[in-house]
Amino acid sequence: MSLLHRLYATRWQRIEKMTTNTHTPPGSILRWLGVIALPTVLTLAFLWAGGWLTPHRLTQASMLDALRKGSGMQSGFRRNHAKGICVAGWFEGNGNISSLSTATVLKKERIPVIGRFALAGGLPYQADAPGKVRSMALRLSPSDGQEWRMGINDIPVFPVGTPQEFHDLQLASRPDPATGKPDPTRMQAFRTSHPWLQPAMAQIGQRPVSSGFADDTYHSLDSFLLVAEDGTKTAIRWAMVPVQPAMPDAGHTNDHDYLFQQVIKDIHTHPLQWRLMVTLAGKDDAIDNPSKEWSQDDRQIDAGTLTLTGIGSEENGPCTGITFDPLVLPKGVMPSGDPILQARSAAYMRSFYLRSGEGPTTPAISPEMTALPATAKDKRS
Ligand code: HEM
Repeated sequence: MSLLHRLYATRWQRIEKMTTNTHTPPGSILRWLGVIALPTVLTLAFLWAGGWLTPHRLTQASMLDALRKGSGMQSGFRRNHAKGICVAGWFEGNGNISSLSTATVLKKERIPVIGRFALAGGLPYQADAPGKVRSMALRLSPSDGQEWRMGINDIPVFPVGTPQEFHDLQLASRPDPATGKPDPTRMQAFRTSHPWLQPAMAQIGQRPVSSGFADDTYHSLDSFLLVAEDGTKTAIRWAMVPVQPAMPDAGHTNDHDYLFQQVIKDIHTHPLQWRLMVTLAGKDDAIDNPSKEWSQDDRQIDAGTLTLTGIGSEENGPCTGITFDPLVLPKGVMPSGDPILQARSAAYMRSFYLRSGEGPTTPAISPEMTALPATAKDKRS
């Protein structure tokens, strides 16, 4: 072999040796996999949480989109129950259900309350009308910080039993741009495809309508659990039942804000009161479905009295910065397995986040409308 050949052969052997020896130790492969895997998992989780991988999955955003389809974009306002007014007063428990729950709010104590009356729907300037769903929202703030927040409606049952049904109902009942009203064909299609919701819808349509916010009954609709000292759990629903006598609606169709004007006048005239009536679930009652009525024979307990003495506009009002998330509960009260509760909490948080970032609004019920008239002020002083 020539010298040149020997030189090439040696070089070639060296190169071969180098390539065959270049094996990566297993530890470093794992390290590389780790480096790639972590961002991949995070990206997938991010896409999943944002609904990009499952466009049909219900999310906070798709729920609020469905609500927006009904009312359009109403910057700065609540995404539901947008037309409202702030109220204030106190709650006094009577101890009647203290054996069923350790909650301090239910003991014999006077607890400050900030609340809100509202009309359901995302339109902040909608006209008041008898058949519209009215609501009361309350934040009970005892001195130990064990707050209880609630949002309760004046219908006997909720029209749907799951978050998906609520979402689909929003889409079905969104107004037709041509008429400004829900498209009857679309609504009929929703009814036909959800026959199990017929009894709830009929009950809502046939409910007696009272004259205003003051003489209305407001229901929790969702079920909750009371937790006793020894851990025993009792499923309940509750209602705020007016102490002032309920009058039938007299119809004020031409007066745009008649319901709000009436309650402003009422509170300026005298305190308004409701009894907190707690219903204990019977053995056949549906705990996890607010569209199902409970038995009329269920035991009811009067647990205390709500008194409202103050009223004011939402413009810089004390209720504006509160979201009445039904999962803000004191020790001694727990959510039931009702899936609507979790969906509500997520939607209220998102609505709060969005509206807080959108800046102040000019609510339909202005500070001038809620001010105490000079004559009433004179009488009070
Ligand atoms: C999946 C079902 C539901 C969704 C997605 C939903 C969504 C919402 C949203 C986004 C708000 C506005 C929250 C804010 O900006 O602070 C709201 C307000 C309200 N909701 Fe619901 N809701 C649902 C079911 C219910 C049920 C079952 C009740 C039962 C009583 C209820 C009662 C209320 C009340 C009273 C308010 C007004 C609270 C206030 O005055 O600030 N909602 N809802």
